[in-house]
Amino acid sequence: MSSALRSQRKSPEADPRDGRPVRLLAWYDRHRRRLPWRAPAGERADPYRVWLSEIMLQQTTVKAVGPYFEKFLIRWPDVTALGSAALDDVLRMWAGLGYYSRARNLHACAVAVVRDHGGVFPDTEEGLRALPGIGPYTAAAIAAIAFDRRTMPVDGNIERVVSRLFAVEETLPQAKPPIQQLAAGLLSPSLAGDAETRAGDAKTRAGDSAQALMDLGASICTPKKPACALCPFSEDCAARLRGDQETFPRKAPKKSGALRRGAAFVVTRGDELLVRSRPEKGLLGGMTEVPGSEWLTGQDDKSALAQAPQLAGLSRWHRKAGVVTHVFTHFPLELVVYTATARARTRAPSGMRWVPIATLADEALPNVMRKVVAHGLGD
Ligand code: ADE
Repeated sequence: MSSALRSQRKSPEADPRDGRPVRLLAWYDRHRRRLPWRAPAGERADPYRVWLSEIMLQQTTVKAVGPYFEKFLIRWPDVTALGSAALDDVLRMWAGLGYYSRARNLHACAVAVVRDHGGVFPDTEEGLRALPGIGPYTAAAIAAIAFDRRTMPVDGNIERVVSRLFAVEETLPQAKPPIQQLAAGLLSPSLAGDAETRAGDAKTRAGDSAQALMDLGASICTPKKPACALCPFSEDCAARLRGDQETFPRKAPKKSGALRRGAAFVVTRGDELLVRSRPEKGLLGGMTEVPGSEWLTGQDDKSALAQAPQLAGLSRWHRKAGVVTHVFTHFPLELVVYTATARARTRAPSGMRWVPIATLADEALPNVMRKVVAHGLGD
């Protein structure tokens, strides 16, 4: 049948070969990233390289994996070489990639492929999943990329692309099964069985479809400020048509943590306030605060007060009625506020300083501290 006849029989959009799967592959053919584990266009990738890269990519970014991948490949060019390596050497070479359990599984998998499969990776998802360290995602990725099996591995990038393309309202992780199904719909139809096309191109190019979605997610359909104008799906992306593409994938709101409690100490010296800077790393890193106790669940007032700053000639601590509450992303906080006054020229304890209350607006004072100061200085 000629292609003209075929298109007469079905409208272009009704035939997936003319729709998104084809557009996706056309985009990939023009824009695919050159990555060390990828085969040149049209060639099938080496299962060993695909497997090694997928295990490493579970740990970190494409950019960070590059040098490790090259080092491994020079030292152990195939699975037989890696299967014969000493585990300690593999662990040493893995250092810096994190989670040594992955490196142990990597080695165990190479040993199993050599011992149980004659040094040849199984070519089905099921066979791959039976190997150490290979879960459902990795099995699908290897099956598609190295063996052209018609399956779609769904990673975080693909989740984002697909949830936007179809405006999937369900939140993760519940949205995973529908996203998986929609992603599979972006695979080209299997051409096997189509006598006319089989001779020329019997491939499903499932691995290319998957890697196209990965690349799209990494370079265009980014979490923030996606470059929709360059996307092959720009015209049919449901989220883009609504203008809320950055809000996908939907995530269930984080469960707020347990209530933490603490004390804050508002010390004045005339019209100055005693402050310090928070450690650079961590919550409110480097911002200004009044001295305070630790913020802990189950903190009692007595132990919080015991953490008050020590200054010579300070008045007695006065506990203000009420509490200051604040909700951080990960936990709610409740602070009791103590006030005291210092005599003129009292030195600030080490790591603290006096600032004029009139210039507090110039300080990097987080909202929770604004509330504390207002509470402490208020009537
Ligand atoms: N992330 C995981 N697997 C990948 C691949 N094959 N190409 C690009 N990014 C990936």
